[in-house]
Amino acid sequence: MSRRVLALLCVAGAASLTYGVADLGDGLTAGASETVKFLHTLDDQPLEFTFRTEQTITPAVEQFHQTAENPYRGDADSIAAGKKLYLRWCKSCHLKDGTGRIGPNLVDDKWLRERTGTDQGKFEIIYAGGAGAMQAFGRRMDQDDILKVMAYLDVLGKE
Ligand code: HEC
Repeated sequence: MSRRVLALLCVAGAASLTYGVADLGDGLTAGASETVKFLHTLDDQPLEFTFRTEQTITPAVEQFHQTAENPYRGDADSIAAGKKLYLRWCKSCHLKDGTGRIGPNLVDDKWLRERTGTDQGKFEIIYAGGAGAMQAFGRRMDQDDILKVMAYLDVLGKE
């Protein structure tokens, strides 16, 4: 094999390695410096943040876009705020205790969709909607509030 071909192969190898690190295949995680690629729950199409363009993008939301980890997890004030939002927007289908009626159970140990077991998957279905009655709450709530509801979901059923 000539040197030239070898060099080309190395470049190709390095490129695929870089790609592998930045996008771990399932699109669920990204390197720290990457912006997370959010997807629509139903068709995996790229999710753009087009709702409520006047909202304040808080530092927590910015951080979430970078890491896909909810910065409000475990924070008492956020959980309390999230509880109010949950009772207002989510209870009708998922019930006060999260055991579900029109919407699935949110407090047992399985998720209808694999991705909703992660912060990213929860955010995606809450922001942009899922099947049937699970509408896009990003139209009604700021992204910061969605993170607070998610902090509440983490403790719901464990209070
Ligand atoms: C009008 C009924 C309705 C309301 C209100 C509703 N949901 Fe849902 N929710 C559903 C349905 C139906 C599904 C299943 C959709 C799917 O899998 O595509 C769902 C799915 C979910 C899931 C994924 C569950 C899993 O097992 O994968 C989460 C998380 C969720 N909802 C959170 C919320 C939150 C948070 C709110 C309030 C902001 C909310 N929902 C309000 C009906 C509702």
